[in-house]
Amino acid sequence: MKHLKAIVAIVALTGLFPVAGCSSEKEEVKLSAAQEEAMSKRLAPEGELALASDVKTAPAGGGGGGGGSRSGEEIYNAKCLACHASGAAGAPKLGAVDDWKDRIAKGMDVLYDSAINGFQGMVARGLCNDCSDEELKASVDYMVEKSQ
Ligand code: HEC
Repeated sequence: MKHLKAIVAIVALTGLFPVAGCSSEKEEVKLSAAQEEAMSKRLAPEGELALASDVKTAPAGGGGGGGGSRSGEEIYNAKCLACHASGAAGAPKLGAVDDWKDRIAKGMDVLYDSAINGFQGMVARGLCNDCSDEELKASVDYMVEKSQ
């Protein structure tokens, strides 16, 4: 008899669960408008996160792989131009092939070294104390590119 009671109990329980499941499903359908609103509010942060990650990748792709450092042209315009546009103190002028010919012949490594450590009238780092070595090299590349 104990077994029978147990079976009845199991039947009763398994009968109840589907009913409970159905009733909650029905509620969802009934409250769909309100629930949709509540759900979209709850989902909003996730949507924003997805957008934020999109935004993060967009500049990286569109920035030309700058990786946060400034371009050679930007450094030139901000710092080097002061002397290299006018040829002040005998600085080789941007675009003046003759000024640069013999210097380019020394090799890029020598020119990078002059820009970073200074060379005669050329001041160390071109007075750009917040320039990284990479940025200084990029600005040398820029000047050399424009002057041959
Ligand atoms: C205060 C003036 C001044 C500024 C600013 C300046 N330069 Fe110069 N630079 C010179 C002068 C003068 C020379 C020529 C040096 C010589 O041959 O006596 C020179 C020469 C150079 C040379 C050739 C060096 C060689 O070995 O022949 C490079 C490369 C150079 N500058 C890079 C730069 C870069 C890059 C910047 C900016 C980050 C910069 N300079 C900013 C004055 C300046």
